[in-house]
Amino acid sequence: MTLYPVTAQEGLLSVLDLNRMKLHGEKIVCLTAYDASFGQLIDEAGVDIILVGDSLGMVVQGDDNTLAVTMDDMVYHTRCVVKASKRALVLADLPFMSCATASMALHNSARLVRESGAQMVKLEGPKVDVVSALVAEGIPVCGHLGLLPQSINQLGRYVVQGKSAIAADKIIEDAIALERAGISLLVLECIPSALTERISQVLSIPIIGIGAGRHCDGQVLVLYDILDISIGRRPRFSKNYMAETGTIQAAVGAFVKAVKAQEFPLAEHGF
Ligand code: KIV
Repeated sequence: MTLYPVTAQEGLLSVLDLNRMKLHGEKIVCLTAYDASFGQLIDEAGVDIILVGDSLGMVVQGDDNTLAVTMDDMVYHTRCVVKASKRALVLADLPFMSCATASMALHNSARLVRESGAQMVKLEGPKVDVVSALVAEGIPVCGHLGLLPQSINQLGRYVVQGKSAIAADKIIEDAIALERAGISLLVLECIPSALTERISQVLSIPIIGIGAGRHCDGQVLVLYDILDISIGRRPRFSKNYMAETGTIQAAVGAFVKAVKAQEFPLAEHGF
């Protein structure tokens, strides 16, 4: 008789675990990491999802935005993190222009899954056809709506999105369309808390917020922001956990505990 492991890769959380956590009201904790040492540290601290975000363009490569991050960068950094994660699900970003068509997205997501071992890929914007194509091939997808950093040249500035009634309705429509196309998870970035609450009432998949208030199933922040080592100003929706703890391990542990206990985010971190 063949004995199958509990999850696809024994020990690692899967989309099923994320759904179970949502069902039981357990908040999902997500942090970014880009290398094996930080990957191991945040995995051991109990982070549920490690996001290898294209924010690496800003916090690792020192650029002003995420646009120069390449597929080779993502494959390399994701592979480093995957080697270190024993429990957390590893989610990798599809960088700027890597999923402009379904065929590009299929090719590039296959690289993140095959060459790096990512369990899920994340893409920005309402790319419904791209999501359907990836899901049809068995690749779990995380959507990303609200502030889309890869569209910075259209936006002009990193500012709160979905403030007008028309913009809010469009984000809700896009969220519903992405869920119908098969996304397993949705990141909402920098939108009013009231809009997040409306979206959470119409979706059944887990929602992870960043600057999106507390009506989410989980929270994500950029690791270097909570350690207060990011270049430039820490965004208002983040929190410096180093100040109150003093070590990296304790800072990450405090963030995990705060999200699980619903002590983060507070109203002051939202819009
Ligand atoms: O790249 C990243 O770190 C992200 C988060 C800001 C959600 O996409």
